[in-house]
Amino acid sequence: MRQLIAGNWKMNGLLAQLAELAQPLPAASANLAADVLICPPATLLTAAAAILAGSRVALGAQDCHEAQSGAHTGDLSASMLRDAGARFVILGHSERRADHGETDAIVRAKVEAATIASLVPIVCVGETEAQRLAAIQNDVVTSQLRGGLPDGYSGVIAYEPVWAIGTGRVPQDADIAAMHAHIRVVLIERLGSSGRDLRILYGGSVKPSNARAVLALPEVGGAMVGGASLNAADFMAIIHAAA
Ligand code: PGA
Repeated sequence: MRQLIAGNWKMNGLLAQLAELAQPLPAASANLAADVLICPPATLLTAAAAILAGSRVALGAQDCHEAQSGAHTGDLSASMLRDAGARFVILGHSERRADHGETDAIVRAKVEAATIASLVPIVCVGETEAQRLAAIQNDVVTSQLRGGLPDGYSGVIAYEPVWAIGTGRVPQDADIAAMHAHIRVVLIERLGSSGRDLRILYGGSVKPSNARAVLALPEVGGAMVGGASLNAADFMAIIHAAA
């Protein structure tokens, strides 16, 4: 399966950066062996969709509400994001879990809402540093997957150890490979044979200097890139590492 390189801009980016970061992507990724996705803030989706139209670069959002519509001031539904041009949506990112108290049950409801709106969900899982030190990372991720994925889940998984996000610290290659193998087992257990085909991205301090090694590991189906996706040259280098 083709690897997927996803740029998660988080709460960064004005129109001026969109031109700088997104404009070069269609030409740069035209002949690549990897799929490319950017997830800018929702305010930029419509403008990004216009820039990426007709290219192989996909567009995604960073969250959605679990309801289809209604009295939820300030929130965005999956169908609104789809309407604005998004085709993917990141759900259950550790920053949402920490900042907004999102539980696995909420993540699951959001996955269901995204699926109804024809958005491809990218469900993020990963342990904190304390959990890794206590050697319970597999249990933590297992319970996030069991709780967050509805029956018949079809989408992407992103393994993002919380302690590696934005810190410049990356797990040992063997630890990434071991967790991805573990996630594959849980997916097959949870979803049957369709669990074999889902892409499992690695995320957490992916940079041009480590991308090639991370992307070469077994069961790594791509990368979710935060900080480095805000630098056009760095993101391009990571895309090329996948190809
Ligand atoms: P980072 O973020 O690449 O800045 O570590 C990754 C993420 O949170 O998706």
